[in-house]
Amino acid sequence: MGQATVAGTESAVAGSASSSEKDFKLVGYSNFLRKNPRTDRFPVLGFHHIEFWCGDATNTAGRFSFGLGMRLSARSDISTGNTIHSSLLLRSSSLQFLFSAPTSSSDPPPSPQSQSPLPSFSPSASHRFTLTHGLGVRAIAVRVSDAFSAFHISVSHGARPAFPPADLGLGFALSEVELYGDVVLRFISHPSPSPHSPSFLPGFEDLPTPSPCLDYGIRRLDHAVGNVEDLASAVKYVAAFTGFHEFAEFTAADIGTAESGLNSVVLANNEETVLIPMNEPVHGTKRRSQIQTYLDHNVGAGVQHLALATDDVLQTLREMRAKSPAGGFEFMPPPVPTYYVNLRRRAGDVLSEEQMKQCEELGVLVDRDDQGVLLQIFTRPVGDRPTLFLEIIQRIGCMTKDEEGKEYQKGGCGGFGKGNFSELFKSIEEYEKALEAKQQIAAA
Ligand SMILES: [Fe+2]
Repeated sequence: MGQATVAGTESAVAGSASSSEKDFKLVGYSNFLRKNPRTDRFPVLGFHHIEFWCGDATNTAGRFSFGLGMRLSARSDISTGNTIHSSLLLRSSSLQFLFSAPTSSSDPPPSPQSQSPLPSFSPSASHRFTLTHGLGVRAIAVRVSDAFSAFHISVSHGARPAFPPADLGLGFALSEVELYGDVVLRFISHPSPSPHSPSFLPGFEDLPTPSPCLDYGIRRLDHAVGNVEDLASAVKYVAAFTGFHEFAEFTAADIGTAESGLNSVVLANNEETVLIPMNEPVHGTKRRSQIQTYLDHNVGAGVQHLALATDDVLQTLREMRAKSPAGGFEFMPPPVPTYYVNLRRRAGDVLSEEQMKQCEELGVLVDRDDQGVLLQIFTRPVGDRPTLFLEIIQRIGCMTKDEEGKEYQKGGCGGFGKGNFSELFKSIEEYEKALEAKQQIAAA
């Protein structure tokens, strides 16, 4: 499908693979009416953690710790008696990243006295995953009120089971269903935290908080985005078993540049604290879609990016950029300078001149929707392949009060950077063109 697609009409998906799904139609950003029908099939309380599967957990976790300012908080590995896998937990406020790698080449026989606190971990599956995808996200874990019933309700509404419910002890439970590709949606339930309960999961050894504590200001996971081959079937599948509602959508014509595009739908839970956007490639453009590039290099669907929220993106970026040359994360090139001239017209009423100056200096993109403002910046791919990357964001506005009068920020405030997609594409395309030129020189 080319860029000639009409924005804001049902024809936006006509011609794509998605058109086979009769009861799901993209209507485009301008026609989309946001509403929250609160249709969750079971209580989903928020993101719990993200698990990455990798070849070596110690080195991967160390790189993310240094690059993102996340401290090593818990572990299960050979030092704790786990000879099956090494799993290291990094934490920054409520954001939890778990890095797991097999330390055994074969799966252990099922045993009630397993050395592993993660019963769903399979060394052979993890080896296969890393061989196929490289470094990637294996599990998006959400906290539910009951991992047993979440699993059974999901499966009865079409979810493909990945791991049956397991009692982890101390009131903790885990289950998994397939999400897309080799990524699972993991359900975790646990009692309210107490001084005696483990800070992560039973069987993980908690590590003392060092002083001073490593912290660049990252507070939580805002959204976890997947790239899929066919958006309509993926959205239909996930919405059917979770009951999640459509929170936002964009079509290629809304956000594509002249050379690439995508269709995207954001699904959300009742509280809109779990935001799961999914993208599909749009074909027929001069250059291959960014999403198709991902699918090729990842060998199928998978997590494209994780958006990490901070209360002060400028401060977080100063810390992260200082680590870039020493092994931290690198960022996509900043947009062209005229972007910031236009920005003064678009966001001058919300951001001070000093803030806008710092956004320009640090390459931060700014977008807004009808409710708030979004400051965002994207890293380069975090591993060897042009697949998974990170987004650092700050949302401004949309403050509201709960029933007890406590102030909180509504989920998704300021949107998902629709207005910045084209800026992102331009910079990725420039980067790809530079890589292609280098490959041609090397081949000559
Ligand atoms: Fe994002």
